[in-house]
Amino acid sequence: MRPDLPALYADHLYMLKRRADEALHRGGFDALVVPSGRLHYQVFDDRDYPFAVNPQFKAWVPLVRVTDSWLVYVPGHRPKVIYHQPFDYWHVVPGTPTGAWTEHMDVVVIRTPEEALQHLPKNAARCAILGEPQSALGEFVPNNPPAVVAYLEYERAFKTAYEVEMMRGASRIGVRAHRAAERAFRAGASEFGIHMAYCQAAGQDANDLPYSNIVALNEHGAVLHYTDRDKLPPRPVRSFLIDAGASNAGYACDITRTYSQDTSDEFQALIDAVDRAQLRMCDQVRKDFDYRQLHLDAHLSLAGILREFGLITVSPEVAVETGVSSAFFPHGIGHGIGLQVHDVAGFAESDAGGTLPKPEGHPYLRLTRTLQPGMVVTIEPGLYFIDMLLEQLRDRGLGPSVDWGRVDAFRPFGGIRIEDDVVCTDDAPFNLTREAFAAG
Ligand code: GLY
Ligand code: MN
Ligand code: MN
Repeated sequence: MRPDLPALYADHLYMLKRRADEALHRGGFDALVVPSGRLHYQVFDDRDYPFAVNPQFKAWVPLVRVTDSWLVYVPGHRPKVIYHQPFDYWHVVPGTPTGAWTEHMDVVVIRTPEEALQHLPKNAARCAILGEPQSALGEFVPNNPPAVVAYLEYERAFKTAYEVEMMRGASRIGVRAHRAAERAFRAGASEFGIHMAYCQAAGQDANDLPYSNIVALNEHGAVLHYTDRDKLPPRPVRSFLIDAGASNAGYACDITRTYSQDTSDEFQALIDAVDRAQLRMCDQVRKDFDYRQLHLDAHLSLAGILREFGLITVSPEVAVETGVSSAFFPHGIGHGIGLQVHDVAGFAESDAGGTLPKPEGHPYLRLTRTLQPGMVVTIEPGLYFIDMLLEQLRDRGLGPSVDWGRVDAFRPFGGIRIEDDVVCTDDAPFNLTREAFAAG
């Protein structure tokens, strides 16, 4: 059955209003005012960067392209969108507002950014204004009151059904593009060529993608955020790691897959082992489970694979305890995802602020909260052959914990990461990425 998107949006908006009511009450403000943002320009140049809309704005309306616009919400009143549609023949002008959201909002069209002042609340001092400094207009200078921001960001971890549906749509686009990327890899394309095949299939480029595609052949897979794109393929091509997402109505997906050129080799067997372990980790995305524990469990599981494949000479437990596993798995197990690929408030102790610490020795974990229904998180274990980190093990006297001959055998393949986006529910977790892959 197709979801009733207008009804889901109406429920989503209801939730946003309730959250805003509470946030404004806590901060002692009368109105929520959210600028969409302005274009940013390159230094000493008139070239603008791809526009990234204020996430607090796109939470309310699926508008990701409109600059110099505003969302105004006063408790008890219909929200208002001040919609900037300039007279401009140099650039594409945002179209007339349409869509389910327009039924729930008063929309006023303005032709210059300054006209917004006529439609913003009378007293800026009574407004919680959420945005970046560059969005300031007259007295409407973003103040980002901590109590308001902390509450809204904390609550944003709990996705509405509408948001999950938007993320499902993003996953479908991302998976379609991942399939095209794999085909390009199998056909012998360069990193640049694969990237182009991905963008073509997604129908998205730097203006839309939620982050820069990571398209890595061979050893490049060992660079966690490899965003160079070689124009020629290496010879021979051995492996392919792609971490690439897509956007849908302002919501992101974040997907990583790793492939071996020779699907009967040992690297493929290692990929398969990580894939099986990843599925078990996805199954831990359950109500009341501490995400920090999920990360620590992942270390043990990945160290087990390292042992199984003869890459380490010590037990998985010892590998985790001594930090050997961290040399092979040097990032967090994942993060919240939604309006931003790395969603906010990953460390929030409560809706009033505070910080939940990371486990000692794990500085790159981005989420330390306990999972609850509605949260959507990535699960992205990896194993990499990173000389710099392996050298550090040697320097710390841990050289004997590693079988260097086995490392030499795997180094030319770079690394492995498998990443899915998973919804925590009251019951079994729901894997948006695997669902999209299974759909064909
Ligand atoms: N694509 C960035 C990440 O996986 O977090
Ligand atoms: Mn991720
Ligand atoms: Mn990713």
